[in-house]
Amino acid sequence: MKTGEISRRYFIKAAGATAAAVALGNFAAFPAGCGPKKASFSNKLPIPPLAKNSSTDPSKAVFELTAQKGTSQFFEGKSTATLGYNGNYLGPVLRAKKGQQVSVRVKNMLDEETTVHWHGVLVPGEMDGGPHQTIAAGSEWNQSYVINQPAGTMWYHAHPLGTTGPQVYKGLAGLFIIDDEVLDNLNIPKDYGVNDVPLIVQDRRFADDGSLLYLNATDDDLHGMMGDKMMVNGVINPVLEVNAVKMRFRIVNGSNARIYDFRLSNNSKFNQIASDNGFLESPVELDTLEMSPGERAEIIVDFSGAAAGDVISLNSAELKIMDFQVKGTAADATSIPAKLTTISKIDEKSAAKTRTFTFTGGRERAGINSLQMNLKTGMDTIHETVKFGDTEIWEISDNTGIPHPFHIHGVHFQVLDRNGKPPPANESGWKDTVLVHNSEKVRTIATFGQKGIFMFHCHNLEHEDAGMMLQYEAK
Ligand code: C2O
Ligand code: CU
Ligand code: CU
Repeated sequence: MKTGEISRRYFIKAAGATAAAVALGNFAAFPAGCGPKKASFSNKLPIPPLAKNSSTDPSKAVFELTAQKGTSQFFEGKSTATLGYNGNYLGPVLRAKKGQQVSVRVKNMLDEETTVHWHGVLVPGEMDGGPHQTIAAGSEWNQSYVINQPAGTMWYHAHPLGTTGPQVYKGLAGLFIIDDEVLDNLNIPKDYGVNDVPLIVQDRRFADDGSLLYLNATDDDLHGMMGDKMMVNGVINPVLEVNAVKMRFRIVNGSNARIYDFRLSNNSKFNQIASDNGFLESPVELDTLEMSPGERAEIIVDFSGAAAGDVISLNSAELKIMDFQVKGTAADATSIPAKLTTISKIDEKSAAKTRTFTFTGGRERAGINSLQMNLKTGMDTIHETVKFGDTEIWEISDNTGIPHPFHIHGVHFQVLDRNGKPPPANESGWKDTVLVHNSEKVRTIATFGQKGIFMFHCHNLEHEDAGMMLQYEAK
């Protein structure tokens, strides 16, 4: 398994349209080969279970996560070696309310070092679970913090230096749902597992014997690891039975590298109600939704016009992700309010500083501003020092010719503009990850309200492992 630097080809090939086309996923749907030969979708969509909160004190939420080895049955009669939290693949949903004190005891039962990062959850640097907070095989890590952010769909995943890609690929990821009073007062679908359903979307590649393949093909290092089998919540060919009512889906792009362009097979529109870190001010009606690795979106799909027996697919361009099978009519007391929350725009003039970051290639190094963090360069260098409490503009551009999802730990930001133009309405809320398209320039603004050392990086996990990651300290 290669986890080393992106090869020389990175720079030679990265200029053309081919790279972008592949990155957007022009794979034929379910090519012949391994896997079920059935034409129809057949696996019931699993609903990730809620993690048990062992606290009896309502102001606290206490969870246990064990990173462990497992065996999954993705194909009939074949077993696949995977990793999971408290199970074989993926993990349970941590769910907490704003104001609650969350404590998580993480045990590492793997044969290798790992870390667990709370992606999108605002916590001090030493609890962030990035590459500095390693958990040696056989040991455990405890942290505790108070949730102080709006309701939304966050997630957690392994984040060790140089091996984030393979560990997440094998299954080390899960959801972290945050609730608050704003959500309590909205009449949107919120019955978990019934009309409020998470969709963790991932793509994987398998050998004929059912084992996972990783970085086994030409250009995997260039584009990041993309598979030809689409999975949602850990199953291939998923189908979810729905009533003809409004359904809320919490979509997480948990793929290592694939960028999706979600749409419904009947071309009906849907409403996006939340971006990475919580509700948008107002629902945004969309017919397609682009999501890069690490990003989350909550959408409401209204199936009320559908008839019993209808099958509507969630697709990404030509690629089929999953099916919704309509059971029949049912009462629906939910509504989509015109206003969801209030988001105060951070004033550009309040920025103390503008920093510029460019995704770069260069003979043997893929990085940011021609710098990189990897096993060779180590973690001693703090690349940027930010004054705690300051507001800053971070301007990110691409100089490689392929798209990169830019993620900053420790803050929620707002997108000021893309190539000088205001972002689309569904990117006008709080974000922690933003896709920088080929040769694009994106400006973000954030207030740094957590102290400590944090990563910022490309969320294409193979790019990240190759060194497209730097760190800042807020103090
Ligand atoms: Cu989702 Cu630094 O990670
Ligand atoms: Cu993160
Ligand atoms: Cu990248």
